[in-house]
Amino acid sequence: MSSGPVSDAQKQRAGEAAAALVEAGMIVGLGTGSTAAQFVRALAARKLDIRGVSTSEATEQLAVSLGIKTQPLDEAGQIDLTVDGADEINSDLVLIKGGGAALLREKLVWEASKRRVCIADSSKRVPVLGRFPLPIEIVRFGAMTTAARLGSKLKEAGVQGHLKLREGVITDGGNLIYDLHGATIERPAELGTLIKQTTGVVDHGLFLGLCDLAIVAGETDIIRLNPNAA
Ligand code: A5P
Repeated sequence: MSSGPVSDAQKQRAGEAAAALVEAGMIVGLGTGSTAAQFVRALAARKLDIRGVSTSEATEQLAVSLGIKTQPLDEAGQIDLTVDGADEINSDLVLIKGGGAALLREKLVWEASKRRVCIADSSKRVPVLGRFPLPIEIVRFGAMTTAARLGSKLKEAGVQGHLKLREGVITDGGNLIYDLHGATIERPAELGTLIKQTTGVVDHGLFLGLCDLAIVAGETDIIRLNPNAA
């Protein structure tokens, strides 16, 4: 994750640009992480009559503290617009997410949304995914065995890199995160399928075909990328 005054200002501008997309009456998916938090703050400042659906306990606490009314995903059903950050964004708008361990709830909220907007500072754009370790959520029962089995499958498939347990992290769903370090992800769809087909894996942080718009703030500019024009 990038941080510092420059990227903080970029995150804030991306968050504000996304907050301008929200209209009164909407059900809004609230992402997780430092960039999404800027969106939540900018949204709260608009004081619109909306309902938020949080992608993590941390975001829920932030939203409620700022006066945003929230409801659970099952109560909301369909979400009008979700705004969330990313760890990496490639030129096809495939994302790596889950640096904050919220990938499962994030994906559930994104998939329930009519429109999904990713917000980021320019450091998140990459030619090829994988420099940021790919988060994989694994159930606790037999996790070491699952990780070893997944590691063998990845090796057989010629995927470089190694899986490492993210020490001390339990997800909001009570699972563990293993990160795939050192992989160069040229074919994210194939890799995603391989990982997801492994028993014991709950989900992975590759977001494929889910991003409808990316708002990326640079030092002086903001660019908007959509999948067709990306
Ligand atoms: C949370 O699990 C992630 O998917 C975040 O959205 C992602 O890590 C981006 O976080 P930052 O905005 O803090 O970089």
